[in-house]
Amino acid sequence: AKPTRSDIESAIRNIPDFPKPGIQFKDITPVLADPRLFAGSIDLLIGNFKPGMVDAIVGIDARGFIFAAAAALKLEAGFVPVRKKGKLPYQTHEQSYDLEYGANAIAIHIDAVKPGSRVLLIDDLLATGGTAAAAASLLQKVGAEILEISFLIELKFLAGRDKLQNYPVRSIISY
Ligand code: PRP
Repeated sequence: AKPTRSDIESAIRNIPDFPKPGIQFKDITPVLADPRLFAGSIDLLIGNFKPGMVDAIVGIDARGFIFAAAAALKLEAGFVPVRKKGKLPYQTHEQSYDLEYGANAIAIHIDAVKPGSRVLLIDDLLATGGTAAAAASLLQKVGAEILEISFLIELKFLAGRDKLQNYPVRSIISY
């Protein structure tokens, strides 16, 4: 039988005080290492989308790449990376976003998708929502149509969804 949300949840490992004191890190590597759970997590992230409905799957550096690339193959869609600033070689759009301390920036190639492309944005985790909101604004700049933003894990207490109100948002597991 296909794995359930709770099968996947059981495999997510909590690491206290990583990467700094007070933060409980959600370690997804045990999910990835189990082929049944990895495949099940991709099926759940894809939801009701079928091949032909989507032109590209956009993944966010770095853990988002793992899920987005697998989903792209399954949906017979292209894969587009949104990377941390300074990593993409061609001309880019950049968007900065706030972190708990300081700021960061992510980037997309200016020609990453054709204008009007139907895309899904996928990442492993929704926390404060700053990263996903910045990625969504990059997708606006390249003229993509965001059909949905989906996450394996959502930390509800951080209210990241509030920053993504213009889009359909779905998460598989929430805390
Ligand atoms: C993590 C996670 C999301 C982001 C969520 O990535 O993979 O991309 O943080 O946080 P937010 O909702 O508060 O913006 P991180 O920046 O740690 O990068 P990594 O995947 O390269 O470790």
